[in-house]
Amino acid sequence: MKKVLLSCKGISKRFNSSPPLFSDLSLDLYSGEKVAICGRSGSGKTTLLHILATLDTPSSGIITFSEELPFSPALRNIGFVFQSFHLLEESTVLENVLLPVSIARLPHAVFLPKAEELLHQMGVGHLVHQKVSYLSGGEKQRVALARALILDPQFIFADEPTGNLDFETAKSIKELLLKIVDETQKTLLLVTHDRPFSQSCDKVFELNNAKLSVIN
Ligand SMILES: Nc1ncnc2c1ncn2[C@@H]1O[C@H](COP(=O)(O)OP(=O)(O)O)[C@@H](O)[C@H]1O
Ligand SMILES: [Mg+2]
Repeated sequence: MKKVLLSCKGISKRFNSSPPLFSDLSLDLYSGEKVAICGRSGSGKTTLLHILATLDTPSSGIITFSEELPFSPALRNIGFVFQSFHLLEESTVLENVLLPVSIARLPHAVFLPKAEELLHQMGVGHLVHQKVSYLSGGEKQRVALARALILDPQFIFADEPTGNLDFETAKSIKELLLKIVDETQKTLLLVTHDRPFSQSCDKVFELNNAKLSVIN
């Protein structure tokens, strides 16, 4: 049976004196579920992802993580993939993938084989010692996917992960992300403007006029 792993109830967010970006928003994320959020630029999708990942705080409302999740703090249960990759350009592929290991103060030696295996699985195993600035966009997003997976989080949050890629490269990243999520039974929270991509998820929401509504 699917379990609720992350639940937010009645959350709102306003920046300074601006009108609320969203208000009284509720969402449950279940184990092994794929959820897409779409909505026009500026509607608050990135802010919502950050709040759910505890990278930002809501102005009001409650976010609860299941007690069954293995890690504390909550953020450790989430692997993030960004539109513009957010890799350290001057560091190597391997150093980037091991960055969450450093932040969590875990030993590199333990995670090295897994980093290499993930990079191999992503099709960039030959680039482990390459400097990130030499990579193509598609290669960078594969490295970012490996970085998101290195600590084996239960959730993958992907914020327009194909937004900066050409059509063919975007297609391969989409297929790879969906395959990983299905194989590992992770929970995907995806922001995308790509209709077919969102429709390959179990649920599709739209964030519009400060409200989150189901569209599929
Ligand atoms: N830290 C911040 N301070 C003030 N305004 C912000 C901040 N972060 C985002 N915003 C504003 O909130 C709105 C929604 O931003 P964002 O969540 O990035 O939208 P989306 O991802 O849907 O394009 C934008 O108008 C943006 O300028
Ligand atoms: Mg955004």
